Amino acid sequence: MLNNIIEKVLVTEEEIAEIIDRLAAEINADYGSGDKNLVVVSVLKGAMPFTTDLMKKLDFVSELECVRVSSYGSGTESSGKIRMLLDFDREDFSECDFLVVEDIVDSGNTLTYLVDHLKKKGARSVKTCTLLDKPSRRKVDFDPEYVGKEIPDEFVFGYGLDLFEKYRDLPFVAVVNPEYIKDHV
Ligand code: IMP
Ligand code: MG
Repeated sequence: MLNNIIEKVLVTEEEIAEIIDRLAAEINADYGSGDKNLVVVSVLKGAMPFTTDLMKKLDFVSELECVRVSSYGSGTESSGKIRMLLDFDREDFSECDFLVVEDIVDSGNTLTYLVDHLKKKGARSVKTCTLLDKPSRRKVDFDPEYVGKEIPDEFVFGYGLDLFEKYRDLPFVAVVNPEYIKDHV
């Protein structure tokens, strides 16, 4: 039962919509004019709903690429090692302004790796946008340029974020009941 798994709803559907409106306004102001050529890079699978909802609010033409990385094993702690499971290639890196879109920043390892990866490929610029941020968990010095909401050190799921690969389809973000995790690892 979902009720036994949810400790509390942390970010409601309404608040997610407000966050996305605010972030889109910032991105529209920063990338909408001039000679910017925005390529959104969605970090699958978790950032998928956030990416599509955010892109719908951009008021200029952009492109979409997807990557998939794994930093976690099967549990809830970052292994620190990043593996690129899906990458993309294109011939115009030096003409593109990349915005990597993530569901959540935890240790910071994933986005540090991806920013470095895109710069090595010759990207003209790389910035990052995350729906959620757990700054207290950082293991490397990393700050995303666009942050939806800072949250405490609690394991969350829903709206793209998984709990053992499930519940990505919830329209809100919830804190998992710690008893549930204890019983399932
Ligand atoms: P980082 O590399 O440690 O910053 O990890 C970021 C990735 O860990 C995110 O893209 C998520 O996939 C995953 N992650 C971190 N915290 C949570 C959480 O509370 N719930 C679900 N996934 C999480
Ligand atoms: Mg993720």
